[in-house]
Amino acid sequence: METKLYQYETAFELSTKRIEEERLGETLAVQRPAHVRANGKRFYIESYGCQMNFADSEVVASILANAGYDSTTDYLQADVILINTCAIREHAEQRVRNRLQTFNAVKKRNKGALVGVLGCMAERLKEKFLEEEKIVDIVAGPDAYRSLPALIEEAETGQKAVNVLLSREETYAEINPVRLNSNGVTAFISIMRGCDNMCSFCVVPLTRGRERSRDYRTIVAEARDLYAQGYREVTLLGQNVDSYRYSDDKTLVGKKLVDAKYSDGVVNFARLLEMVANIAPDLRVRFSTSHPKDMTDDVLHVMAQYDNICKYIHLPVQSGNSRILGLMNRTYDREWYLERIRAIRRIVPEAAISTDIIAGFCTETEEEHRDTLRLMEEVRYSMAYMFIYSERPGTPAAKRYRDDVPEEVKKRRLHEIIELQLKHSLESNRADVGKTFEVLIEGTSARSAHHWYGRNSQNKVVVFPKGDYCPGQYANVKITDCTSATLLGEVV
Ligand code: 5AD
Ligand code: SF4
Repeated sequence: METKLYQYETAFELSTKRIEEERLGETLAVQRPAHVRANGKRFYIESYGCQMNFADSEVVASILANAGYDSTTDYLQADVILINTCAIREHAEQRVRNRLQTFNAVKKRNKGALVGVLGCMAERLKEKFLEEEKIVDIVAGPDAYRSLPALIEEAETGQKAVNVLLSREETYAEINPVRLNSNGVTAFISIMRGCDNMCSFCVVPLTRGRERSRDYRTIVAEARDLYAQGYREVTLLGQNVDSYRYSDDKTLVGKKLVDAKYSDGVVNFARLLEMVANIAPDLRVRFSTSHPKDMTDDVLHVMAQYDNICKYIHLPVQSGNSRILGLMNRTYDREWYLERIRAIRRIVPEAAISTDIIAGFCTETEEEHRDTLRLMEEVRYSMAYMFIYSERPGTPAAKRYRDDVPEEVKKRRLHEIIELQLKHSLESNRADVGKTFEVLIEGTSARSAHHWYGRNSQNKVVVFPKGDYCPGQYANVKITDCTSATLLGEVV
């Protein structure tokens, strides 16, 4: 049980690590465009946190490649070591600080090497980072990546270089990300940046700024390009994809933009999803993350209509208790959330649903915690990312409420949530034994060289004997066995 508990406690970090692991050994070198002259310097980049962050690192790699840099996957060889950081929980930040110690040793050996901190932790700490971590030369927030070549030049003169300006417009729309460590089959596409939701526990609005949507034409072009290169699955990424809204008319802002119609030239998430799904029937489309307050039936109907839109929705609930949801400023209550679940079951009956849950938010009582367990019983998620509440400096919750649930109580509640989810995941997977799924093959299983792993439409990992297939192909796999995390099967 110990290992499983650990697995789920750090599930969020693990899910990104899993991506890293799955891609390991298939590392592609970053290609400098043919017309760009090499500047003789190499960068190394390492990413933590959410999928958005991994997607951002690909934008950074593209910006540096266009400035003449080559990449290296060995930080000992790098002239510039970049670490793209996450600030969502204290634990995530601690991992980054530990990693900086390792880079410190490199700097002692290679005096010229520069260390740059990017992303959410850079944005949160700003110049303070330079005081706290003496080895850091460059600090760049999520909207400052275009200035990275200039920041590196500045740092080369011996000065510390900082750009943490947040933007209302930057979407890196026309930058074609360089796919780092790609499996060549699945890719992420950022469709928007920032977040306007102000959930009281969350540091993201502070680190990633105001919400803005990327021009749909550049999104569709990027997906088309990936398909032409052989990719067969794209995941549309945003902090809150359901509030995607794009218009060329820049006078449409705020409420005016929200109220405007498709006929006014406004593209919402349902329309965008449709455009990407129409690229090719064998290009799968996924998206993440949905916010229950914005997830419309319109999106669900589009999902139901297109076979290539995966039948999987990640719908973070955070808590099953309406008072706690109010304190979290989630702007929905338990009943609203359950109504959205019913809408999914009605319109997309085969959809798998997963969630995020926070245990031990400020003032949460035992009874309120049990509301979360009861909600889980009612929904029966196929999978969940579960966390202990971690107070983040500067957030509304840190300012307004006391983090008063004792650590042991938080841990025990998380443990109960994990236990229940393990049971539900196993039940959900057992119900799939005997069924046949179309699986997109992503690569060799981490456990066995003779097996492929891929995912079905419901986002469940399926492992099966290799046969004559190869990555990027679809295989029909009949499920013969399972664990709580994986389906095992054979091609039929
Ligand atoms: N403490 C614990 N978990 C958090 N999350 C976001 N902020 C915090 C925090 N301060 C979780 C939420 C969110 C997921 C990405 O991380 O569940 O949906
Ligand atoms: Fe971490 Fe949130 Fe930033 Fe992603 S957006 S890297 S989860 S703090």
